[in-house]
Amino acid sequence: MNDLAGKHIVLGLTGGIACYKAAELCRALIKEGATVQVVMTYAASQFVTSITMQALSGRTVYDSTWDQRDANSMPHINLSRQADAILIAPCSADFMAKLLHGRGDDLLSLLCLARPLRTVPLLIAPAMNREMWLHPATQRNVAQLRQDGAIVFDVGRGDQACGETGDGRMLESQELLEDVIAFFQPKPLAGHRVLITAGPTYEAIDPVRGITNLSSGKMGFALARAACQAGAQVTLVAGPVHLSTPRGVSRIDVVSAQNMLEATVQHAPEATIFIATAAVADWRSAAAAEQKIKKDGSGAVPALSFVENPDILATLAQSPRARSGALYCVGFAAESHDLLAHARAKRERKGVPLLVGNIGPATFGQDENALLLVDEHGSTEMARDSKLSLARKLIADIARRTGAGAKK
Ligand code: CTP
Repeated sequence: MNDLAGKHIVLGLTGGIACYKAAELCRALIKEGATVQVVMTYAASQFVTSITMQALSGRTVYDSTWDQRDANSMPHINLSRQADAILIAPCSADFMAKLLHGRGDDLLSLLCLARPLRTVPLLIAPAMNREMWLHPATQRNVAQLRQDGAIVFDVGRGDQACGETGDGRMLESQELLEDVIAFFQPKPLAGHRVLITAGPTYEAIDPVRGITNLSSGKMGFALARAACQAGAQVTLVAGPVHLSTPRGVSRIDVVSAQNMLEATVQHAPEATIFIATAAVADWRSAAAAEQKIKKDGSGAVPALSFVENPDILATLAQSPRARSGALYCVGFAAESHDLLAHARAKRERKGVPLLVGNIGPATFGQDENALLLVDEHGSTEMARDSKLSLARKLIADIARRTGAGAKK
């Protein structure tokens, strides 16, 4: 993906050991399509050199208010006017205090002060010792900076360079990258709570065997990521998959269809949108054996019998909140053939306003997919694309539909 294509970011470094992470962050931003102009304070240059940052960003670094390379000799004006965002990472406690008071005794604080408030957002990634972070002065400054319109990212927790353990270290570069990408995404789902099921379920036959399917969970995880980036609070109920949790998403791991139903029903009362992407196993063993089923040497095969699993989507779609329009339910259909006919029939059967069809064998485990959206008016295709791109389009589509129908 090139999620930051066309974005010009002024990356400001202030004094802190987390400057080493800023070097990685600079690369990550560029890899995602951004252009990056690094500005460093004197304190930052004690931790990482401007040569390093120049090599990584492909641009000479600015570190002085009196830099004369621009014809007008006003780097604080020029740099702040060119930026789509100013990202201070790491931002020290001292630099936050400075920003708060509108001081401008070095180039970075001066350009933050000179930035056009409404068009150039200020993103702050704090980095400091845990006592400094917890100090009332710092907490007061964070609250005031937020009130002044800055976006102050979370801090990481755990071991710190000083040897102490706690809150305050800078987020990892990949986490910050995710936060920056999310910041630039439109927020049509702000105020919504989205519940998503994803992945396969696993139905035990005995303690070592079971039935499952080839769903990788990628589409559901991409939707969770896209919904979160669109401003929603997201709960993801995931079957057994090997995927990392999208940043900001609250994840509940389940195994069987019954577990998935319980977790989903438990979280449904707060949800405004439910998206069922999980490939729930249709049947489970009528009675899972407590011990491993052994061959008896005769060549006889065990007589397995199955019962049907509960239908999670249909259960939620029939709930009073869904019927009243307070919970908007979206189903998926993984088919092997006759997609439109099956998707239409499934939409009716499940009682959902929107059903998204895809061809199972062409999507399971893949990074790309193609979707067919079926509603009461007909169908629309979403052409083959990456699952994240499709997820973003689908989330935007659902946001339009819920804006018209569901109550928050
Ligand atoms: N679904 C569900 N609970 C089930 C079965 C399916 O919530 N027990 C949901 C899926 O998450 C999906 C939709 O229902 O959103 C359709 O799932 P699919 O497996 O395609 O359909 P089935 O109802 O299982 O029908 P069939 O297997 O006959 O195609």
